[in-house]
Amino acid sequence: MTDSGELVTLRDGATVLVRPMVAADGPALLAFFRGLPEEDRQFLRDDVTRTEVIDRFVANLGDDTVFSFVAEHEGRIVGDGTLHRTRHGWATHVATIRVVVARELQRSGLGTSLARLLVKRAIGLGLDKLVAEVVDNQIGALRAFEKLGFYQEATLKGHVKDIHGVKHDLVVMANDVSHIWETMEALVADYSPTVGD
Ligand SMILES: CC(C)(COP(=O)(O)OP(=O)(O)OC[C@H]1O[C@@H](n2cnc3c(N)ncnc32)[C@H](O)[C@@H]1OP(=O)(O)O)[C@@H](O)C(=O)NCCC(=O)NCCS
Repeated sequence: MTDSGELVTLRDGATVLVRPMVAADGPALLAFFRGLPEEDRQFLRDDVTRTEVIDRFVANLGDDTVFSFVAEHEGRIVGDGTLHRTRHGWATHVATIRVVVARELQRSGLGTSLARLLVKRAIGLGLDKLVAEVVDNQIGALRAFEKLGFYQEATLKGHVKDIHGVKHDLVVMANDVSHIWETMEALVADYSPTVGD
């Protein structure tokens, strides 16, 4: 993908542009988050309906601990995917992936495409392990991540309380992508620019 993004074709043939978030996306991103049903955003870490939270996302754009893709369709933002990592401590090789898609476009392949592009970006950044935290009833998220090679690594029992006060398990899904790295390194090591001369 170039920085201008990649066109993704959805199941019904519609195309969506997935591209890195830029500062000018602030207002459209706020409108997207405010348009989500409460149950789709309740599990996000921040209250993304608040202007100051989106302003913080915009201010953090140059920060190398966060990377965001937005999905754009007919002039609106219809999806968001982020990669979060730390630069210090024992988990600098790990990133957390989060994906959210507008209700009317769900189940058309966009969530899987956003997650796939984030996995690709993470591998490009040299990360070894990816983690996604999914509530046990988020079937779409479980399926989308499983299709990309994530497996259920741990379950935190009753870790999440939904808007009705009902407790749910939090499934920690993981994907060890270090072997992809190793394969690439082996290919580079095997490559001899003089072969065929
Ligand atoms: C998770 C989420 C991003 C998935 O987006 P999406 O665009 O619907 O994903 P996809 O269309 O790629 O679907 C992935 C798979 O799950 C299936 N699926 C999606 N929603 C489903 C549902 N509610 N019930 C059953 N299956 C579902 C799809 O059919 C697809 O499987 P298939 O390719 O075998 O048909 C979306 O459901 C969402 O925004 N949820 C709220 C936020 C959230 O929970 N995020 C996860 C935390 S990181």
